[in-house]
Amino acid sequence: MAFFYSDGTLHVGDARASVTVDSIVGALDRPAYVYDLDDIALRFHAMNNAFASARHTIHYAMKANSNAAILRHVCALGAGVDTVSGGEIARALAAGVPADRIIFSGVAKTHQEIQRALTARIKQINVESPQELQRIADIAQDLGVVADVAFRLNPNVNPKTHPYITTGFRDNKFGMDESFMPELRGILARESKWVRLRGFTMHIGSLLFDLAVIREAIEKTIAVHDTFKAEGHALDRLDIGGGLGIAYDTADTAREFEMIAQYGRMAIDVTRGMNVELLCEPGRIFVARAGVLVGRVQYIKATAQKTFAILDTGMHHLVRPALYGSKHRILPLRQGTGDSMVYDIVGPICESSDFLAKDVLLSPLKQGDLVAIADAGAYGFTMASQYNSHELPAEIAVNASGHQS
Ligand code: LLP
Repeated sequence: MAFFYSDGTLHVGDARASVTVDSIVGALDRPAYVYDLDDIALRFHAMNNAFASARHTIHYAMKANSNAAILRHVCALGAGVDTVSGGEIARALAAGVPADRIIFSGVAKTHQEIQRALTARIKQINVESPQELQRIADIAQDLGVVADVAFRLNPNVNPKTHPYITTGFRDNKFGMDESFMPELRGILARESKWVRLRGFTMHIGSLLFDLAVIREAIEKTIAVHDTFKAEGHALDRLDIGGGLGIAYDTADTAREFEMIAQYGRMAIDVTRGMNVELLCEPGRIFVARAGVLVGRVQYIKATAQKTFAILDTGMHHLVRPALYGSKHRILPLRQGTGDSMVYDIVGPICESSDFLAKDVLLSPLKQGDLVAIADAGAYGFTMASQYNSHELPAEIAVNASGHQS
């Protein structure tokens, strides 16, 4: 449930144990993200159950939210992480995630980042180009270690999500199509002392709802996997990426839990008989619902066209509405009385892309009110900036006993 109204007041928790969001942020003098750790656990357990009959590891994509309390929490639940930078690897290790539960994705891994990954002895590097594979082999040789790698396939599918978060289509910079395979085979043969191919990986995009397209991409990946296996590579892993979406326009989460169950069933079905460890890299589905961003109304400003509620938080703290046109629900911490009004919820940044929601119908707001932007737990704080030299928001993680960290 995470965030819900009771007696007109926004609460965090569930029906058995909850506190008001106001009791957490009311005394703060700056915007804050509030996270519900128990909601994340619920989703992790659902995913784990969905994959229960397969040998599997969930590698939480920490780019969605790399808050230390959340990392410690998912690690304690048994998850590993998917990282995309040396900085994320360092954060994961600092939070106590064991190196053998860390995988490293991304198209632009620097010499230093690969060195850090190999020195830490992480589980796997997901390779995105032949030049990267060569660089990994060279660094492994320098360090005298063997690098475990997976090749990221670009399966050329169209998952019909926002173009900015589509990653498995032929026009995208991600992964490698079959034309790269001869060169990769050559490097593998030459560098067999330093790199060991453990499997294949793919990730076709984010905010996905169509499991049939994910299945198609997995099938294409398996076809290439099988070719390499037939050539004698001892492949023992298959990484099916992340990408499951949430419906930002509703508080109803039943569909997401159903999708998690179907996703697991589909993945197990399509990989039946492969004898591999199944890896997945979900981010958003674990944390999006578990976080809100809370800001305070500084001014109400009405023009002939619009009524603006101007907050102390905006696109610098949550860029998703400005960048992707995403529509987050707006939840005043206390529902006011009186006839509802249409507002644009905007921030302090000096450009007109600085909106959190447009034309939303809300009970009347007034100066000083606290307002939560819903479903902001994924790609909220991790994409926040200090544009206009504003401070970053605070982050507060809460669990059922009301404990805050
Ligand atoms: N694995 C890889 C290699 C990825 O690139 C991503 C996300 C994930 C896993 C996790 O995807 P998820 O399960 O969270 O959909 N900032 C955008 C989303 C960018 C996603 C980038 N890659 C947004 O706010 O919608």
